[in-house]
Amino acid sequence: MHISWLDHQDAPISTDDLAAVGVYHERLEVGAEDPQPALDRIKRDRGYVTQDIIELRPDTPNLAAIGDRFAGEHLHTDDEVRYVLEGAGIFDIRSADDRWIRVEVAAGDLLIVPAHLHHRFFLTERQQIRCVRLFKDSAGWTPVYRQSAPADAAQ
Ligand SMILES: [Fe+2]
Repeated sequence: MHISWLDHQDAPISTDDLAAVGVYHERLEVGAEDPQPALDRIKRDRGYVTQDIIELRPDTPNLAAIGDRFAGEHLHTDDEVRYVLEGAGIFDIRSADDRWIRVEVAAGDLLIVPAHLHHRFFLTERQQIRCVRLFKDSAGWTPVYRQSAPADAAQ
């Protein structure tokens, strides 16, 4: 995982800035061992009950439309839990003072964006990511778009 302030890339930042808004990160090394016991621990400790795998690739049908769906600032009523098996992705997550924290994830990263925290998601140039998703309630995982956002000079 690599994190930075989107509006000031050289400014100091730490995982405390993510923790301040309830974001959780853990490394679960891919290939070193079966990640399922670690995922089961997270499910048990945090109350996730269902699990699936999502994959986006350059040849995924309607990839541009799927990307657009998550590139707008939104939140969910359930946590967004992603354990990256392969590929990479970029989350922009709102900080406590409503700035963007850019979080780049790759294989082995487990990232939890808590319910009701505004964020957006992009693929990298490779346009490929394969993730395990965990849910408390799969019905709750639908984007709710933000109606008004602060001016964002970095876009
Ligand atoms: Fe999301």
